[in-house]
Amino acid sequence: MSEILKYFAKYIEDELGIHYSEHNYFQLQNRLEEIARLLGVASVENLYKQATVEISGQFKQLLLDIATNNETSFFRDHKVFTSIETNILKQHTATHGTRPIKIWSAASSTGQEALSLAILVAEFNLKTGSHLDVHILGTDISERVLTKAKHGIYTQLEVQRGLPVPYLVKYFKKDDRDNWTASPDLIKKNRIPQIKFKIDVYLSGKIRSDSLP
Ligand SMILES: C[S@@+](CC[C@H](N)C(=O)[O-])C[C@H]1O[C@@H](n2cnc3c(N)ncnc32)[C@H](O)[C@@H]1O
Repeated sequence: MSEILKYFAKYIEDELGIHYSEHNYFQLQNRLEEIARLLGVASVENLYKQATVEISGQFKQLLLDIATNNETSFFRDHKVFTSIETNILKQHTATHGTRPIKIWSAASSTGQEALSLAILVAEFNLKTGSHLDVHILGTDISERVLTKAKHGIYTQLEVQRGLPVPYLVKYFKKDDRDNWTASPDLIKKNRIPQIKFKIDVYLSGKIRSDSLP
């Protein structure tokens, strides 16, 4: 089994630059068992046999997914958002007026970071009377998290993590299942920047130039 785990750990490292240390191999094994179950493959050994022939499609997605940590929340690192407002939005408006800005949330997970940026810009425009035009691109390696990002639907628990209540009621609508959706009407009304989400991978610190918005 340890050869098999080494094989998959190397694959993940080559594809993502994420190192799986040997003391986490038990976790890798659990996750490979889960993938085998999801793909209807009888065992991790059989999964390995399949991998040595080809890793593609859903198999590849699931493998890359298990290595990533999708932890996120609204306005996750406050200092970063304050700095974007002061050092980018304010300075850009002072020097370049309404010249558009492109912002790239390069590992956007389920979209909270990109939405927080959009709210930050909308609030900045309202506060300062500016008409700054901002385009936001959210990319991630995981199709699963991007699907959620595109839907923009968040549970009560998710919106409670970092999203100030005034922004919740201003930009989101609650549905009958107690989930909150970033509402297109409210987004339009409040001139919140548009966000596009697409799948993309950056490799070991190297950014693919065609990823740039
Ligand atoms: C911890 S989350 C961070 C989310 C958000 N940036 C935040 O700070 O709240 C990291 C995200 O990076 C993505 N990721 C990891 N390696 C990646 C790669 N090489 N290319 C693109 N996305 C990657 C994962 O799928 C995951 O959703």
